[in-house]
Amino acid sequence: MRQPVTEEQAPLQGDTLVARANAIVRAPATADKVALAYETAKAWFQRRLALGSPSREGGMPDRPGRPDRPVLLAPRDMPKRALGGEAGRIALLHSLAHIELNAVDLTWDLIGRFAHVRLPRSYYDDWVRVGLEEAKHFSLLEARLADLRAAYGDLPAHDGLWQAAQDTGHDLAARLAVIPLVLEARGLDITPSMIAKAESLGDEATARILAIIYRDEKTHVAFGAKWFRFLCDRTGTRPEPRFHDLVRTHFKGTLKPPFNDRARSEAGLTPGFYRPLARLVG
Ligand SMILES: [Fe+2]
Ligand SMILES: [Fe+2]
Repeated sequence: MRQPVTEEQAPLQGDTLVARANAIVRAPATADKVALAYETAKAWFQRRLALGSPSREGGMPDRPGRPDRPVLLAPRDMPKRALGGEAGRIALLHSLAHIELNAVDLTWDLIGRFAHVRLPRSYYDDWVRVGLEEAKHFSLLEARLADLRAAYGDLPAHDGLWQAAQDTGHDLAARLAVIPLVLEARGLDITPSMIAKAESLGDEATARILAIIYRDEKTHVAFGAKWFRFLCDRTGTRPEPRFHDLVRTHFKGTLKPPFNDRARSEAGLTPGFYRPLARLVG
């Protein structure tokens, strides 16, 4: 006999994943972004949310909602400091928290902005999981800052990351090429040495958080590679040359070696994707 549907399982009428993604990106308070991301992921995986559509729910904002602090500066205006000790540790955690907050907005923007593209449900399952994990990463770093009697907002932060979203807002393949496959893959290159540094300083708590982020980010790059290949398959294009074209068009920086070839390969990002760009772009 079929079980009666409880209130906890009932579909949320009129509420959609796209509308929630929009609300997360627009929310100014970081606590609201995080809480909404957790609630939305739960409702999505309970299969209580319809997908919705960007045309019905209104477009994604050009810029995400942000708290009054930190002050956002152009990357060239960021203070250059080589800090040691406690101040250096706080500066590093603060900059990582800022990157993770951008990752929260970028992921939910990806979910909401491209919902007019025909994609399987498993695509949304993957990116909702990423959106949840980015919120978790921000919360872990915020809690570590609090351990050190500091908070997100205490220091200035740079405003360059959202630019990548604006530049690729019209093209899902371009967005996947630049965000997971260039920027998040870069995280795989540099995080192991940050973990080793934290351990060498006896900062086990920070090392543990970085290890969680590293493990999760491998999955994020893997999802990027999987769905980038999916889009290429659908249009009969070869993934590697397409990737090179998109990165040259939409990514202003350089792809800097040394690369973490092993972690990148485990995520499905084989050297044919990035090695030619290290020479051509760099
Ligand atoms: Fe993250
Ligand atoms: Fe990520």
